Amino acid sequence: MARDLNTAAVKAGEAVDGERLWASLMHLAQFGARPDGGVERHALSGADIAARAWLIGEAERRDLAVSVDDAANLWIRRAGRDGDADPVIAGSHMDSQPAGGRFDGALGVMAALEALGALDDAGIVTERPIDVVAWTNEEGGRFDRGCTGSSVWSGAMELEDYLGDTGADGVRLGEALKATLEATPGLARRPRRFAAHAYVELHIEQGPVLEAEHLEIAAVTGIQGVRWLNVEIAGHGSHAGTTPMAVRRDAVQAAHRAIAALNDLMADPDDVVRFTVGRFNVTPNSPNTVPERVAFTIDFRHPDKALLDQRTARIAPLIAAAASPCTASVTPTLFMDPTPFPEAMIATIETAARGLGHPVRRLASGAFHDALYAALVCPAGMVFVPCRAGLSHHPDEWSEPGHCRAGARVLAASLASLAGA
Ligand code: GLV
Ligand code: MN
Ligand code: MN
Repeated sequence: MARDLNTAAVKAGEAVDGERLWASLMHLAQFGARPDGGVERHALSGADIAARAWLIGEAERRDLAVSVDDAANLWIRRAGRDGDADPVIAGSHMDSQPAGGRFDGALGVMAALEALGALDDAGIVTERPIDVVAWTNEEGGRFDRGCTGSSVWSGAMELEDYLGDTGADGVRLGEALKATLEATPGLARRPRRFAAHAYVELHIEQGPVLEAEHLEIAAVTGIQGVRWLNVEIAGHGSHAGTTPMAVRRDAVQAAHRAIAALNDLMADPDDVVRFTVGRFNVTPNSPNTVPERVAFTIDFRHPDKALLDQRTARIAPLIAAAASPCTASVTPTLFMDPTPFPEAMIATIETAARGLGHPVRRLASGAFHDALYAALVCPAGMVFVPCRAGLSHHPDEWSEPGHCRAGARVLAASLASLAGA
C-alpha cells in the first residue's frame, strides 16, 4: 500500500478515538431528539441553541478557544506554531431537517472536534491553527435559504439580506439569530470574513455508492449545481359545493397542472436530473373551500451548469401557462453552480485514506454542503463515509461507528497534512 502520508499525519489519524467520537455524536443527537430515533434541530431554534451551548462547553473543557461571528457560525480554534498563519478549517453544520437523522452535518462537526483531540493525544503541534466550524442553517429546513452561515462567510451573500427571511414557524431569521447570539454573551467575536488556507468537511454520503461497493471512504470530486425556487399560485376561494367547475380558479388544480408540466420538463432517461417539490402549502386548506392559494418549492439539481440554466429559464413561463386562469409567481431562493474541488485537495484526502490503510474511491456529491461556499474562499475538499441504504434526511439515517471512525481518521490525517504537522 502506498504510504506517502507523513509520519505525523499517520499518527494523527491513528490517534482518533472512535468511542469518544461516537459518544459525542450520540450526545449531540439528544438535542432535538425525536421519539422515532431521528432529530429535529432547526437552525437557530431552542434545540440548536442548547446543542451549541453543549459544544462550547466541550471545547472549553478541552482548552480550545471558542468564538462566534455575526452569522452565529461557531468557531473552535486549536492554536498552531504560527498564530498569524491562515487556518485550516474543518466542520459542517448542526442544524437538521424537520425529520432528520443523527449524522447529516453532525458527523462533520463532531469528527472535526475529535480530530483536534487526536492531535492533542498524539502530541502533534501544527504550523497553522486549525479551526472547527459549525455553520449556521445549512439545511434551509426552517428558513428558506440554506447555507446561510457559509454563504455569508464566503462573501457570496450579505447577512442583512437574510435577516427578513421568515421561517416555516413565522419567526424571522433576524430575531432567531439575535436570540442565538444573546444565548452566548461571553463569546469572543470573530470577523464575518477572513482568509483560510484550506477547508475539509467530512459527511455521510447520503447516497448508495460506498455501501454497495463495501468501501469506507470517498474523496469527493465536487458538488453538483442546485436551483431552489419558491412558487406561489393565486386562485380564488369559493364554496366547494356550489361553485360551477367552469368558473373556478382552483389553486390546487393549477399547481397540479404546473407540477405535471415541470415533470415533463425535467424528464431524463439517464436519471441524472434531480427534481423535487418538497413543500406544498394550501390556503385556506379546508375540504369544502376551493383553494385560494398554493405555495410550493422546487429543488432542481444537475452537474451541468448549462443544462441547469436552460431548464431553469423555462420554469416560470411553463408554470404561468399551466396555472392559467390562476396567476403564478416564481422566486429564486438558492442558486449554486456546480463546483469541482481542486485536484490537490482530492489527492490530499486520497493520500490520507491510503496512508491509514483505507481503500478509497472518488465520488461526486449529489447533495450540497457548506464546502460549496468554502470553496469560494480557499481550496476545499470533502470526505464521504457510507450510510445505511444510502438513506438521509430521514430519522432512520445511520452510519456505522466504524465508518464514522474511518472518516474521522482520514479527516485528522488530512488536517495534519494541510496544517503542517
Ligand atoms: C443538503 O442538505 C441538501 O439538500 O443537499
Ligand atoms: Mn449536511
Ligand atoms: Mn442535509
